[in-house]
Amino acid sequence: GKTGNTKPLDGLTDNLHQIASDLTLPRPFIARLPVPQVLVPRRVGNTDHYHIRQTRAVQEIIPGHQTEIWGYNGTFPGPTIVSKRNRRTVVTHTNELPVPTVVHLHGGHTPPHSDGFPTDYLTSDESIQAMRNGSSAAQMMADPKADVRHLSRAYTYPMEQPAATLWYHDHRMDFTGASVYRGLAGFHLLRDEQEMALPLPSGSRDVPLMICDRAFASDGALKYPSVDSHMRKPGVEDASLPGVMGDVILVNGACWPLMEVQTARYRFRVLNACNSRILHLALDSPRTTPPIVQIGSDAGLLAAPVSHQELVIAPSQRFEIVLDFSAYHPGDEITLLNTAGAGSTGVVMRFRVTGKVTDTSSIPDKLADVEPIPASKVQRHRVFDFHRADERGWWINNEFFAPTSSIADVPREAIEKWTFVSDYHHPVHVHLVSFQVVARNGGPPGPYDAGWKDTVFVNGAERVDVVARFHGEAGRYIMHCHNLEHEDMSMMATFKLI
Ligand code: C2O
Ligand code: CU
Repeated sequence: GKTGNTKPLDGLTDNLHQIASDLTLPRPFIARLPVPQVLVPRRVGNTDHYHIRQTRAVQEIIPGHQTEIWGYNGTFPGPTIVSKRNRRTVVTHTNELPVPTVVHLHGGHTPPHSDGFPTDYLTSDESIQAMRNGSSAAQMMADPKADVRHLSRAYTYPMEQPAATLWYHDHRMDFTGASVYRGLAGFHLLRDEQEMALPLPSGSRDVPLMICDRAFASDGALKYPSVDSHMRKPGVEDASLPGVMGDVILVNGACWPLMEVQTARYRFRVLNACNSRILHLALDSPRTTPPIVQIGSDAGLLAAPVSHQELVIAPSQRFEIVLDFSAYHPGDEITLLNTAGAGSTGVVMRFRVTGKVTDTSSIPDKLADVEPIPASKVQRHRVFDFHRADERGWWINNEFFAPTSSIADVPREAIEKWTFVSDYHHPVHVHLVSFQVVARNGGPPGPYDAGWKDTVFVNGAERVDVVARFHGEAGRYIMHCHNLEHEDMSMMATFKLI
């Protein structure tokens, strides 16, 4: 494969915009890496049924401090759901939080009724009460299509797509950043026969890693800078415009955790769940060449492995990687760095080698069938310009997000080329489809663009071309920047499948 070669990005800028915690930061590499629990389905016929309660809970994230989180089943991250391809999954969510919520399965090829359109609210007793009391929550539900009576809601996922690391998170209009920051995020893994037949590391050596950054108040509360009330854009302080970045790095909800590993290969499903932070992941003491082997992208396995020195991963992207600890010895410690960060955000977690084992896993040269979409098949080309509007937020094609107006009416099954143009860095995410990156600034795709993706990183003054086949049910979907503060400040657009 190719070797990833990164240009220096905005690590320094990132740390400039970082929020400082008000408490003493804990020592790193003490907490053990938690692995979110896999949720047990109630199986009925050909469908897996799950139930999730969205509740407040208290979690000890900083040792000695109690942090109130909002969690799926009261945990942050939420439980992991594991689905099998072509087996429908229905997840019924009940909202017991003080605000309306919206559930989106990120990366899912989901029909409109279950995709989590930002105004398809799942209300709660408390949020309805607030509305009856005439609070400004009512304004948030001004969309006539919003159903204000749901206390629970069944989201149906066909799961006809290939094996991939998906994740679910809140998607409420204007408040996604604040809600995800409080903990509303979890993994949803999709497996299939071809993927499970590969000799890749599996079982306890197949580990999802949800990396995110947070800041904490002196009492242990999560510290989020916007005025987190039922207010529209004027309530968002200008300081949060570039995005919200904390000074504490969490992996699966634990700060700078330690993971014990054996002298074997591990498959890690790395998710950047930060609101805004771009991560540059690298090992401090690599012993293999290359140190990082990428096997999968957002929407599934790659055709063939790709080698990296360093992994640049923007918010919401997933990179499946294999790290090989077989050249280390028991007692060795390997630190996963974020080379774009400085100080507390320059380190992510640590691996400690504890046992020598014989490893029978391997990385096949051929992983999956990834058929390139030929340029000759493109039926239409559209250009979307992502840029800063003014102090009120961010634009796509000079417009703020408007739920009811469509930026593109795409015929079902059409193959289209979409060009994302930007003057700043934005992780651009399209719902419903997976796409292939075909060009960057007129040249070839970059080192992190391989495979099927649902989020492409447009890294400042760039022009990125992607192609997709718009297979799915007619209806409305969205595309948006996955810097959650940009998204909440309107960098989002509705498109329709017609
Ligand atoms: Cu990860 Cu539109 O979302
Ligand atoms: Cu953005």
